[in-house]
Amino acid sequence: MPMLSIWFFRTAILFLIAGICLGLYMSITHEFAATGAHAHINLLGWVTMAIFGIYYALNPVQAASRIARLQYFIYTLGILVMAPSLFLMLSGNPAMEPLVAISSLVTFSGVLLFAFILFTRKA
Ligand code: HEM
Repeated sequence: MPMLSIWFFRTAILFLIAGICLGLYMSITHEFAATGAHAHINLLGWVTMAIFGIYYALNPVQAASRIARLQYFIYTLGILVMAPSLFLMLSGNPAMEPLVAISSLVTFSGVLLFAFILFTRKA
């Protein structure tokens, strides 16, 4: 399997662990304000990342490209900043909103870069 796929899966499992910990925390405390952060960590950080990893495993030529590595870094950076800032914002810190907005756009850039790779790169 290409190293890039392994990194997508390694990063994804860390987000799943974090997302489940937050889910358990919400269940234990009965405090559900941060449900949106839990959902995004799990769906962007675990599900979507794992799908990227599968795609690159099926396309090792693309996985070896510089633009694919760039896509990994941009997407991961976006979620790494977005997850805690979204959690803090939903937990009652409105000052986090600009950081949530910027990191959301960084994450979206990672998705757009993936779309670019899908439509332009040869298999
Ligand atoms: C042991 C693992 C998990 C625990 C303990 C957990 C716990 C929770 C809790 C307590 C809520 C809030 C429910 C409410 O507001 O009434 C929630 C919502 C949610 N969870 Fe999880 N969760 C887990 C795993 C996952 C996974 C793996 C995903 C996605 C891949 C996921 C996606 C969601 C979504 C999308 C919501 C929002 C649902 C809604 O607002 O209607 N969760 N979870």
